[in-house]
Amino acid sequence: MAQENDVSRRDVLKAAGAVTAVAAALPAVQGSPFIQKVKAANEQVQYGMIGCGSRGTYLLKHLKKIASGRCVALCDILPEALDHGVQTIGGNPKTYKDYRDLLAQKDIDAVFVITPLFVHFPLTRDVLLAGKHVFCEKCLVFKPDEVHALRALAREHPKQILQTGLQRRYSYFYQVVKNMVDKGILGDVHHIHAQWHRNMINKPSALWTMKPGGESNIANWRVYRSMSGGLPAELTSHQVDVADWIFGSSPEFVMGLGSLDTLKDGRDVYDNIQLIYRYPKGQKLTYSSISTNQFLPMFNGARPEMGEIIMGTDGTIEITVGDDLHTAIAWWYLEPPKTTTVTNPDAKKKEAFVAGATMVASGGANGPIPIMTSDLDFKPNASFLAREAKFARRWLTAKGVLVQEEQDNPVDIELEGFFQSCCDLTPPKAGLEIGLADSVAVILSNLAMDEGRRVYFNEIDRMGRGEEKPKGRQTN
Ligand SMILES: NC(=O)c1ccc[n+]([C@@H]2O[C@H](COP(=O)([O-])OP(=O)(O)OC[C@H]3O[C@@H](n4cnc5c(N)ncnc54)[C@H](O)[C@@H]3O)[C@@H](O)[C@H]2O)c1
Repeated sequence: MAQENDVSRRDVLKAAGAVTAVAAALPAVQGSPFIQKVKAANEQVQYGMIGCGSRGTYLLKHLKKIASGRCVALCDILPEALDHGVQTIGGNPKTYKDYRDLLAQKDIDAVFVITPLFVHFPLTRDVLLAGKHVFCEKCLVFKPDEVHALRALAREHPKQILQTGLQRRYSYFYQVVKNMVDKGILGDVHHIHAQWHRNMINKPSALWTMKPGGESNIANWRVYRSMSGGLPAELTSHQVDVADWIFGSSPEFVMGLGSLDTLKDGRDVYDNIQLIYRYPKGQKLTYSSISTNQFLPMFNGARPEMGEIIMGTDGTIEITVGDDLHTAIAWWYLEPPKTTTVTNPDAKKKEAFVAGATMVASGGANGPIPIMTSDLDFKPNASFLAREAKFARRWLTAKGVLVQEEQDNPVDIELEGFFQSCCDLTPPKAGLEIGLADSVAVILSNLAMDEGRRVYFNEIDRMGRGEEKPKGRQTN
């Protein structure tokens, strides 16, 4: 039986105006009321947040420490979530049950949309139409028609910032690794393996546990395909975005297998998925997410659950992002140096020549070498003693004696970056096209598993245009 204060998916859709077909909503774009004025760099961005649940309050905790933004309004359809939001941010934000009242508040420059996935598009659309900047959590959109509609709408609002919550793009470690790949330090990178495994049997997550009311309770949104993209949306989305970034492209096609084997409590999202993405130059991302075991065969098993292995002909990176409980880790392993066998005409015998592959200063063996924080970087004019001390720190870090720390949480950097973009209109690192590509990967991954076929990424161009229905499960 549903709890008394349960809010159903129908209520949420109604509140979000999503009952209106996306196509029908587009003409409303004409005559957008006003364009948000650009603020001086020293002015605070005044923001509101819609959705004060688990992620919303996590972000509010981080936003509280960021001086370039000020929370002036919060909205949630659930009173207890709204109260929790107010307690978390402090101060005296105005509070709303209906997000349209928040959008009508004139002193709001920017709005965070931190709601369940199935209402991201209607809310983000309405924020843009209200003339405000928007930060919408990943995944940016839920359905194929929303991909096309949001692209069209955002292009008509070029002076408004649209950022999505793919925080790995803001991580110093991931940026270093991306530079290493682009500079050829890992050789040719053809393969990435990513995993996000959890043990939902021994360690159930409140977010993924079925609550009373089943599909009619919005709190269960993650476990129903009518409201959620399941594991691909909640977990894979971060990691396929890393692969897109490293390979410099969206995939060409995806194939995969998903099933619901263990968590059979009425949910209809898969509880384990295996996916293979092929990229245009033949590179591959292999991906696994399961719900019955959390072991991570990286970092000597020191961290559970999630990470990526980036494999090149000259080296490998194991990397994972940090959060409030765990530090980020990035380890670099060298491949054996390139060996070229040539015939020596004088000695009439074969000799092996070792070519290329400069040994990294601190390495020599095949790792692991921690990816440097700026504290560990070598300055060209560093003294002998300073260099020795840093070698020692690298070594101790590699041995796990010193903990390697990313100096800033990427979530703080993404939030500061958003406010900065609102002031000077610099395009966000995780902007519209990054967010749409990520959403497309999620939509097509589910389709590939549902239909048991290879799904090409250019299929999205024909999907959601009103002519042909995608064959996957329909939600509206
Ligand atoms: N970037 C990340 O690492 C990360 C991590 C966790 C969650 N997320 C994303 O954040 C989003 C929210 O996830 P969550 O865990 O906070 O979910 P949640 O269920 O804990 O919270 C969602 C909140 O939105 C509210 N809500 C729903 N519809 C609303 C509406 N129309 N108007 C106002 N409020 C409404 C709900 O009442 C609830 O309080 C999801 O898209 C999720 O994928 C991102």
